[in-house]
Amino acid sequence: MDVDEVRKSFPALASGLARFDGPGGSLVPRQVAHAMAAAMGAGMCQRGSVAEPDRLTEATTVGARAAIARLLGADPRGIVFGRSMTALTFDVARTLSSGWGPGDEVVVTRLDHDADIRPWVTAAERAGATVRWLDFDPATAELDDVRPLLTERTRLVAVCAASNLFGTRPDVPAVVEAAHEVDALVYVDAVHLVPHAPVGLGALGADFLACSPYKFFGPHLGVLAAAPQLLETLQPDKLLPSSDAVPERFELGTLPYEQLAGVTAAVEFIESLGGMAAVEAHEAELLGRLLDGLADLPGVTVHGCPARRTPTVLLGIEGLVPAEVTSRLAGLDVIAPSGSFYAIEASRHAGLGEDGGVRVGLSAYTSAADVDRLLAALAEVSRSASP
Ligand SMILES: Cc1ncc(COP(=O)(O)O)c(C=O)c1O
Repeated sequence: MDVDEVRKSFPALASGLARFDGPGGSLVPRQVAHAMAAAMGAGMCQRGSVAEPDRLTEATTVGARAAIARLLGADPRGIVFGRSMTALTFDVARTLSSGWGPGDEVVVTRLDHDADIRPWVTAAERAGATVRWLDFDPATAELDDVRPLLTERTRLVAVCAASNLFGTRPDVPAVVEAAHEVDALVYVDAVHLVPHAPVGLGALGADFLACSPYKFFGPHLGVLAAAPQLLETLQPDKLLPSSDAVPERFELGTLPYEQLAGVTAAVEFIESLGGMAAVEAHEAELLGRLLDGLADLPGVTVHGCPARRTPTVLLGIEGLVPAEVTSRLAGLDVIAPSGSFYAIEASRHAGLGEDGGVRVGLSAYTSAADVDRLLAALAEVSRSASP
């Protein structure tokens, strides 16, 4: 991957800012913006096979399902689009929990983003089911073993493929194997992993996998992937006249066709880079440079040290609250936001409270020069903070 070439596709980089805010939403390549604008101008209205506009709308929808299916190694008939990963997860939780009752159990982790916790906790409470919490080691940010929490009453395990706070990549196939031994379903929040590594629904073994295209160069919407055979067994709330087919059964209202065109363009952009494996290799090299540099910076603490991780690093500077660090970095044209990033349980469990830390995320468009600018800026902020 030639990062200088890659960077030319991102109009936002013309600002000259060094951007480390990708985990909150990646920058968008020109190709995606153009595809969305073209789709809006194409007169799409409703799916169908008779008139040309309807066929275009149909092809756009089917094309986006096929693109996501390629990216996630999934069946296009099991790709559901929704407003966001959060909205889709609430929908699935409501649907699944209609079959839960007192005595049933649900496992959530303290490492996850709240979007993969609260929908399950809320649904379990309404159904009278029990919530069991899988903890993590605050020193390493590694998840504990799930097995002691599983029983024959476990209905579902919700786990992230990567932590958006510490970058931890839990051993999802091991969680899936253990959960399937007790016939529990596994819902994987892959929002933070899909932008950084090849992810396969089949390879993980998960029953459900959720992600968000705006984290991987696409527009703001959410995706749920599952085997169509599993989706066939579920009855979500839906309108009477809307399609009962799978995956349409799960898609409330009219789909955002221009965004679907953007999703296809985003996946094609990733493919043009050589796929997520090429992005992962690029980011791994830069992550090494970043972590080496951080280790040499006095006054800078890196929170968590997971063995397998994404290139997302949470840090703090002695003597400054994270928001102040973010503000001083912004003054040096380096963008690295701070907070708990909705992984509020994780932030509290790690002793970082509501303030969290400063989150530095590398992306396909990050250059070695960006990393060096960040390290120099952190050194300057750290120096200015020391008495
Ligand atoms: C790990 C993780 N899960 C879930 C979400 C929520 O995704 P969405 O904004 O599509 O609801 C985010 C968003 O930041 C995230 O980082």
